[in-house]
Amino acid sequence: MIILRELKNSDEEYFFKFIKNLSKEIVENYNHLFSEKREEWAKKLLSENSLKIIVLDDSKNEIIGFGHLTINKEYPGVPSLGIVINQNYRGKGIGKQIMQKLMEEGKTKKFKAIYLSVFKKNTIAKKLYDSLGFKTIGETFNDSGESWKMRYDFPI
Ligand SMILES: CC(C)(COP(=O)(O)OP(=O)(O)OC[C@H]1O[C@@H](n2cnc3c(N)ncnc32)[C@H](O)[C@@H]1OP(=O)(O)O)[C@@H](O)C(=O)NCCC(=O)NCCS
Repeated sequence: MIILRELKNSDEEYFFKFIKNLSKEIVENYNHLFSEKREEWAKKLLSENSLKIIVLDDSKNEIIGFGHLTINKEYPGVPSLGIVINQNYRGKGIGKQIMQKLMEEGKTKKFKAIYLSVFKKNTIAKKLYDSLGFKTIGETFNDSGESWKMRYDFPI
């Protein structure tokens, strides 16, 4: 059975395992900087001031997906979204479920909007965000590549 819930302190060991088991391609789509530094990345994700949602495969007792809304100090009303699904569980609607949960929680917490950036080459993620009403508001680039900046504004 697939379960969606907030990450708890007691999930830490499983969370490290989840990050460790992600394929290089999956991590590179998320952030090139961390493809060789998994443990550092996992610690950073755990320590951030964020709402953390995990998806569990109950039958195997493992985390298979993770999404977060991270609070930005400069713009507390507009958290940044991140999402990553284990390679063996992609294309099964899990990413969409996490996105919907994060958007629901964002609404409940009365955030003004949600911000994210996505590599231009990551057409699958871009399609997911487009389908959920995120608007492309600009572009940016760094050593890892060119990205779209996107934003979802909660209806007032
Ligand atoms: C992007 C990601 C989170 C999507 O999660 P997922 O569970 O595979 O996606 P879902 O099965 O929920 O599909 C959601 C939508 O994504 C798009 N999509 C998913 N797989 C696709 C594929 N193979 N080709 C094209 N579009 C695809 C579709 O729009 C789909 O909606 P639809 O089924 O209604 O058409 C996942 O692929 C992932 O972890 N990628 C690596 C990390 C990453 O890129 N994170 C985002 C960084 S900005």
